[in-house]
Amino acid sequence: MSVVALVPAAGRGERLGESVPKALVPVRGVPLLVHAVRGLLSARGRGSTGCVWRVVVAAPVSDVDTARNALAAAGLPALVVAGGSSRTESVRLALDAAGDATIVLVHDAARAFTPPEIIYNVVSAVTAGAPAVIPVLPVADTVKRVDASGMVVGTPDRSELRVVQTPQGFAADVLRRAYATYPDDSTTDDAGLVERLGVPITTIPGHPFAMKITTSFDLALAETMFPG
Ligand code: CTP
Ligand code: MG
Repeated sequence: MSVVALVPAAGRGERLGESVPKALVPVRGVPLLVHAVRGLLSARGRGSTGCVWRVVVAAPVSDVDTARNALAAAGLPALVVAGGSSRTESVRLALDAAGDATIVLVHDAARAFTPPEIIYNVVSAVTAGAPAVIPVLPVADTVKRVDASGMVVGTPDRSELRVVQTPQGFAADVLRRAYATYPDDSTTDDAGLVERLGVPITTIPGHPFAMKITTSFDLALAETMFPG
């Protein structure tokens, strides 16, 4: 089983509002992208070798060399390609560069502190035969559906809802078929495209540390919570 991890890292990080793209923003002096790739390459079962064979990063077009140099300086082998203008396009460009793979993970650079056990658990579930696997957490807050004017139109049953993290793991042919079938769809996540093909999606428990760093609040939390 060759396992290739795609890392969409080409976003600008508008909501974070730093002067560099989000993947290059440091936590404890180390760019988020480096934390994320290190986590992928250190994922392993007890006593076994690493479960991710190769990493393909989609970097901001303006910062491909910077991303490449940061990973090389950290001693992390990864192929770095230029990303696109949407996350979907970045994933597609990384997938095109992935070469032979039987299992593909898609893992946001912004989820830089995902515990390696979660990565290993996703790979294990796909290896065991699930065509698509996503880590999820229960929803802590009550969620309302509202109309365009902000009036409440419904209250979904929270027990049926999950928030989705990454890495999302797929049999490589399934993810390739999803991207070939829905080439321009930026309205959903990778598992959403796969779901539309009618492929079953398995959930496994996620982890609070797999939070997506989106805002300056998240960045401040990461600085205090996670090792450098
Ligand atoms: N991403 C990407 N290419 C894009 C947009 C996003 O590879 N054109 C990546 C981001 O780098 C990030 C992941 O997709 O690792 C999740 O996206 P998000 O958290 O929304 O990051 P940004 O798009 O950078 O942030 P914002 O939406 O606040 O601008
Ligand atoms: Mg975004």
